[in-house]
Amino acid sequence: MKVDHIYPGDCVEIMHRDIPPASVQLIYADPPYNLSGRRLESKRSATGGPFYKMNEQWDTYGCDEYNAFTRDWMRAAFDALDTRGSLYVSCTYHTVGEIIVCARQQGFKLNNILTWYKPNAMPNLTRRTFTHATEYVCWFVKGCGWKFNYDAVKGFNPHRTQNGKPKQVRDFLDFIALPVVQGRKRLRGANGRALHPNQKPEELIELIIRASSDPGDLVLDPFLGSGTTSVVAQRLGRRWIGIENNGRYRAAAERRMAGTNA
Ligand SMILES: C[S@@+](CC[C@H](N)C(=O)[O-])C[C@H]1O[C@@H](n2cnc3c(N)ncnc32)[C@H](O)[C@@H]1O
Repeated sequence: MKVDHIYPGDCVEIMHRDIPPASVQLIYADPPYNLSGRRLESKRSATGGPFYKMNEQWDTYGCDEYNAFTRDWMRAAFDALDTRGSLYVSCTYHTVGEIIVCARQQGFKLNNILTWYKPNAMPNLTRRTFTHATEYVCWFVKGCGWKFNYDAVKGFNPHRTQNGKPKQVRDFLDFIALPVVQGRKRLRGANGRALHPNQKPEELIELIIRASSDPGDLVLDPFLGSGTTSVVAQRLGRRWIGIENNGRYRAAAERRMAGTNA
């Protein structure tokens, strides 16, 4: 197993082949959400064309296929995690049901569902539903001895006492407000557009890593994308492994790790 390394290829194959059982303390997974290709036509669209929330081939599955894929990578994740290990999975309302059922089928226990509120979420183009402004992160554990670093998490509490100190964790709800990554923090391709459609805020990953790992622990991201998890893990003194099967995203993550922009 190579650490502080981005493996190219399919995460299920690589986890089974290269990651020894029970060798990882924390897995953060941001798998395909399976919501690509849902076209919205908007008469008011200023872009002159149909609007897609996402339209990526790697994000398109049939229903049974998505469940089988989810079970496969979760099985590999379960084997890779040590008995005190945690699995955090990002998802939206589209897939949270499948994610929880598949995780339970592999033997995981659900500890929390964190809600990420995006104050700058996409506008409501159809006006046929409530505006979708949240994503979830499901926290699963393998056994009973999971890590939860109370003091580290307390530092994230936006609620302050009258003296300006963070309030108790009981006041820090399973809810975090963070803007979608924009501006200079957003990696861009040569055409100036966002390089990866799902670049996660570093603060969200930092919360997860601080909560459920210690310095020196090994953090694995099987769907590394633009490299957010590896950047944050390295900054926080954790060892890390990323897996990414798309060459363009992998190259961007490697440049990001080397400290140069995409
Ligand atoms: C939701 S994105 C992750 C974004 C990442 N969290 C970030 O901040 O940039 C999912 C990523 O998984 C990759 N992917 C999809 N299927 C994969 C597989 N079977 N093995 C490895 N990577 C995969 C996609 O190319 C995509 O970059």
